[in-house]
Amino acid sequence: MGPLAQPPPHSGSQPSQERTPTARLEMTGISVSFGGVAALSDVSLTVEPGQVHGLIGPNGAGKTTLFNVACGLVRPSAGRIVWRDQELRRLKPSQLSGLGISRTLQGVGLFAGLTVLENVMIGAHRHAKAGFFSALLALPTADKDDRLLRERAQQALVELGAESYADRYPGSLPYPVQKRVALARALVAEPDLLLLDEPASGLSEDEMHELGELIRAVTTRMSVLLVEHHMDLVMRVCDRITVLDSGQQIAAGTPAEVQANPAVTEAYLGDDVDVEADAAELASGGSNA
Ligand SMILES: Nc1ncnc2c1ncn2[C@@H]1O[C@H](COP(=O)(O)OP(=O)(O)O)[C@@H](O)[C@H]1O
Ligand SMILES: [Mg+2]
Repeated sequence: MGPLAQPPPHSGSQPSQERTPTARLEMTGISVSFGGVAALSDVSLTVEPGQVHGLIGPNGAGKTTLFNVACGLVRPSAGRIVWRDQELRRLKPSQLSGLGISRTLQGVGLFAGLTVLENVMIGAHRHAKAGFFSALLALPTADKDDRLLRERAQQALVELGAESYADRYPGSLPYPVQKRVALARALVAEPDLLLLDEPASGLSEDEMHELGELIRAVTTRMSVLLVEHHMDLVMRVCDRITVLDSGQQIAAGTPAEVQANPAVTEAYLGDDVDVEADAAELASGGSNA
């Protein structure tokens, strides 16, 4: 097993490790248009508690758009989002952590001027009373919170096998390590729902495998929406998969059902950007790991 797949440490302050996920994200009839061009038309998707839901499709299919709807970054022109049995209206990205939702965006998005540990501490602010910035300023009242925050951030780095980089600055680290730090930052808040947009981009086969193990491991604590291009990873880790093509939902089901669906193969064959790699992965049943 590689560093990403290490089990969490059994230290005393491990937060809510045994909590069983109960929250469900339901997106129903979602439509989005950009300047009159339909990016999504009537797409519905439910992430069941403790499941990994994959969202796949050729480039331009609308995956990131739907992901951004779930994050509150894009407002749909139609449709409903229900989270923990409550409809989310006018969701804003700043409300996410309070709702128990964490995300990593396509790319990395770490703060260049903060150390790895400080970057991860930012993700934990939901759990800190005095808040990260007073902690940074070392206000006396923040001492206890700061220590707690540090511990939690360190634990998250251990879980991601990145603890040795705690004092480094992100810009000096290899891309795959930066991605692990971004994931640690998303996990440190102990979300009920983790949203991942292309977490495997730029990773080697081995690192991708470890990422898959990590994603499976966190399902004891949270649900995951995984937007991913690597068919192999998606087929291995997802419980359910939704397939988009040109903003339309063309298939949904278990990995086996989706793989057996001719519409899916056809959509990937029509993709002029990654045609060969995608179609070959799909045809091989995503089992070349
Ligand atoms: N902010 C935007 N403004 C205009 N068009 C956009 C915007 N974001 C995405 N699109 C368009 O919406 C479609 C879906 O894009 P996207 O959701 O990024 O696809 P994917 O992530 O599946 O590659 C594409 O045609 C894209 O050009
Ligand atoms: Mg995308």
